[in-house]
Amino acid sequence: MEKLWKVENLSKSYEIKSEFKREKIYAIENINLEIYKGEIFGLIGESGSGKTTFGKVLIRLIEPDDGKIIFKNTEITNLKENILRKYRKKFQIIFQDPYKSLNPRLYCGYIVMEGIQGKNRNEKMEKAIELLNLVGIKKERFYDYPHQFSGGERQRIAIARALSTEPEFIVCDEPTSNLDVSIQGQILNLFIDLKEKFNLTYLFITHNIKIVRFIADRLAIMYKGKIVEIGKTEEIFENPKHPYTQKLLESRI
Ligand SMILES: Nc1ncnc2c1ncn2[C@@H]1O[C@H](COP(=O)(O)OP(=O)(O)OP(=O)(O)O)[C@@H](O)[C@H]1O
Ligand SMILES: [Mg+2]
Repeated sequence: MEKLWKVENLSKSYEIKSEFKREKIYAIENINLEIYKGEIFGLIGESGSGKTTFGKVLIRLIEPDDGKIIFKNTEITNLKENILRKYRKKFQIIFQDPYKSLNPRLYCGYIVMEGIQGKNRNEKMEKAIELLNLVGIKKERFYDYPHQFSGGERQRIAIARALSTEPEFIVCDEPTSNLDVSIQGQILNLFIDLKEKFNLTYLFITHNIKIVRFIADRLAIMYKGKIVEIGKTEEIFENPKHPYTQKLLESRI
């Protein structure tokens, strides 16, 4: 299988200052993994285990302390911003709370248009309508603001916005955690359909073992900033090796 990402010894720490001392805490420590093109790579772990930090470091939204990030055989760890710009639009991130990524003062259609490159205004508008339609938002709603939509619809708009830059890779950071269970299923299926349609690869972050089992081809389990187990999702569910994985799967969080 073609490798999209290779990560070697990736670490990121934060300095925690209290009244009496300074402490260095590793949000992620010595991460080694590969993500293959076209797969959904699940990342699961309890709150604070470093999942979001890993996703952001991978796509260079946060600087690592140490380690190597290789995207399609090119090391991007130390690329300067002017060169990194070329990569930025290939990577997208979708958060739990779409309010973080949607400008409240823009019509949803304009939000999607913003990301579309190299077209005139009419073409951008047509493309935005097409993308919104693909994620299940009708064109009659082009001139509605984010607050006029339901949570599920807002996440659909965030997905259309992410697709607008024609990305190759999307970090999905708990994208359905704020939604009702019935809506969760619809959005997960939308992610799967879009992946096939646009040849995407996902890093899918969640703390929900049912969701990860449903969606992920392979899976890494994170515990206190480290990967404790990695493998095919079904194999891990059938035969979890690390004690923490066993506990996590038993607890059915
Ligand atoms: N900007 C920051 N400054 C200091 N510490 C941070 C910062 N960002 C993250 N951390 C710490 O790094 C650790 C990992 O955080 P991270 O947000 O990556 O965890 P997470 O697995 O995504 O958690 P959650 O499931 O709650 O989203 C936590 O201990 C967190 O407090
Ligand atoms: Mg997080």
